[in-house]
Amino acid sequence: MKSAILTMLMSLALILPAGTAYSGDVEKGKSLFNAATLGTNGKSCNTCHLGGKDIDGSKKTFNVLGEQLNSIGDTVNYCIENALEGKPLDGNSEGMKNIISYVKTLKPKKIQEHITPGY
Ligand code: HEC
Repeated sequence: MKSAILTMLMSLALILPAGTAYSGDVEKGKSLFNAATLGTNGKSCNTCHLGGKDIDGSKKTFNVLGEQLNSIGDTVNYCIENALEGKPLDGNSEGMKNIISYVKTLKPKKIQEHITPGY
């Protein structure tokens, strides 16, 4: 099942003409976000990030469980590997571009205020 999807994603990537700047498809990215197919433990991104409401896709760097990640792609793969027990997506794959396009649309519902003691 997983390998069928990987094969599909890989062949899609091959169909796309080399050098074409493919910008991801938000709707397809959302389906991936909600699908349990990226991992092996039956979870989807949406299992933990319900509706994506805790993700700020406008950020350039991310801190996940004490780990500093320098791109959305690395962050997505970090969660795929550690939270979904799946194989990381190739940075240039259609799947990765789609999921990044979706994640970039996400804004946290509640922006935490930065409170500095003494101010
Ligand atoms: C088992 C739970 C779990 C699953 C499943 C999961 N994540 Fe995460 N994710 C976390 C935790 C925990 C953090 C770090 C804390 C936080 O920022 O919410 C995080 C952080 C993130 C962040 C950074 C959020 C921010 O604004 O700093 C992104 C982006 C992200 N995950 C994307 C994904 C994607 C895409 C998937 C599916 C491939 C996924 N996650 C699946 C638990 C999970």
